[in-house]
Amino acid sequence: MLSDIELELVPRSRREAVDFDNLGFGNVFCDHMFSMEWEDAEWHRPRIIPYGPITMEPCNAALHYGQSVFEGMKAFRGGDGRVRIFRPDMNARRLAASCDRLCVPQVDPEMFLAGIERLVSVDQAWIPARRGESLYIRPIIFSNESHLEVRPSRSFRMLVMTSPVRSYFDESMPAVTLKVEDTYTRAAPGGTGAAKTGGNYAGSLYPAELARREGYMQVLWLDGIEHRYVEEVGAMNIFFRVNGHIVTPELRGSILPGITRDAVITLLRENGHEVVERRIRIDEIVDASRNGALEEAFGAGTAAVISPVGTMAYKGEEIRVNANASGPVTQWLYDQITGIQLGEQQDPHGWCRVLPI
Ligand code: PLP
Ligand code: COI
Repeated sequence: MLSDIELELVPRSRREAVDFDNLGFGNVFCDHMFSMEWEDAEWHRPRIIPYGPITMEPCNAALHYGQSVFEGMKAFRGGDGRVRIFRPDMNARRLAASCDRLCVPQVDPEMFLAGIERLVSVDQAWIPARRGESLYIRPIIFSNESHLEVRPSRSFRMLVMTSPVRSYFDESMPAVTLKVEDTYTRAAPGGTGAAKTGGNYAGSLYPAELARREGYMQVLWLDGIEHRYVEEVGAMNIFFRVNGHIVTPELRGSILPGITRDAVITLLRENGHEVVERRIRIDEIVDASRNGALEEAFGAGTAAVISPVGTMAYKGEEIRVNANASGPVTQWLYDQITGIQLGEQQDPHGWCRVLPI
């Protein structure tokens, strides 16, 4: 399968010009990208080519009607020098589910994994080795047909880009600050909330911008019907520790089924913690905070890793969590997950795909 991927290398790498001491998130892209096209009901010409501009017609349906899906995962360079990609098989599965929801043709998971492994190998000199840094991998599939009818397209393009990154959130902040959004909605029952598609993020920009102007880093979304139940954060799933019990919103089709969320639940349960996935009223969290039962809150995501939540603003009241510090469970999870990703902890589930040397 790997031998089927054509390779066109850049004449000269851009890596030397990159300031690796000041990596942000998703500002710098590696030399190459993976590309293939869907035409006549088949994927064609998987290839690795120089990263760069692409051409498309102004009436590309992805631009007008948003027919596109994407994924996000990371590759790490461990202290042992080996390269590990964290749970890409889960990304392949979630991509397939997003494809179905958006009428986008699925990609064979073997092709997906082979393309990503090959791309990461080709640009492995770009994978940062410092703690807290990694190579973010961003696959996207979008309509590649020029038409203005509202219907599924017949041509698509898949690209995978990679980017050396540091943390998603401002590292000078000890914890994430959230505005609990009780006016705008991210996703509704029956909508596209569980799919990783650009439209979900497009609709989040305006409320997120309002939150930012009020001094909050992200939005904590509530359900789309009553604005009573906690859903997720702009770029991560949410967990609370209340009176020693860990709770997280259950998957009802309106939140992203996070791969980090799944890892968190697995690790906690294996280590004797009870984790309950259920509907969580925002009022419960407010009450727990008032009576001192809210011990920790944290987000989980590929870009966010495990991020402590220090403040949640709801209807004019600021809920403070654990004096803005990372609580013991939050810190333990961060250490476990990053330890597995870097090859420093046992990986009993085989979550990491280790690249051949
Ligand atoms: N929720 C949203 C809206 C996200 O964008 C992300 C990031 O991908 C997550 C949750 C966490 O998902 P994962 O752990 O698979 O990265
Ligand atoms: C990710 O964590 O992979 C995300 O997609 C979050 C954000 C960068 C959109």
